[in-house]
Amino acid sequence: MRAQIEALKAAIGRLPRGLAEHVERVVAEADRLAAGFKELDREQVELAAWGHDIARALSHQELLARAQKFGLEVSPVEEEAPILLHGPVGAEILRQEYGIDDAEVLAAARFHSTGRAGMSFVEKVIFVADKIEPGKVRAKTALARVRELADRDLDAAILEYLDQMAMVASEENWSLHPLAIAARNERLLTRRWGE
Ligand SMILES: [Fe+2]
Ligand SMILES: [Fe+2]
Repeated sequence: MRAQIEALKAAIGRLPRGLAEHVERVVAEADRLAAGFKELDREQVELAAWGHDIARALSHQELLARAQKFGLEVSPVEEEAPILLHGPVGAEILRQEYGIDDAEVLAAARFHSTGRAGMSFVEKVIFVADKIEPGKVRAKTALARVRELADRDLDAAILEYLDQMAMVASEENWSLHPLAIAARNERLLTRRWGE
């Protein structure tokens, strides 16, 4: 796993500077969050953090072309906003080009922007770390609330983020990804009825 981390680190270093710095901050946040949970494998979390945005610099056309090449199903929402494909396409790149076969690492990359119902612990840590790294909180101050919650309750942080996303989607008239809706519904239902 260490060799895969080193290969990804080098690849991230070749990405546009702002993106590479975001990834570095996500690695730091994910490690900070993971440190609080003994059951988490810190190396697995580190690998997922380095890999999560491997496809983030691809253009919309490239994302659509890669999705087709990889045989990924592209939903109407993704067709409208191909940037949503950078997680699924990135996961395929990690699998096929970096030889990563850890299912949790691949899922963490795949679902890091939408979330999904039934996220594993590693997926939750990457999802949240991606949203609360200081660069994003500076750019979008409402994320400070997500950051605050993350230290006590990862699930509450996820729900807060998805609530914010739903609100912005409704204000700005954009579609919500079906996986994000499912993730939010799951969080609301478990909060009401217990897990
Ligand atoms: Fe991303
Ligand atoms: Fe990211």
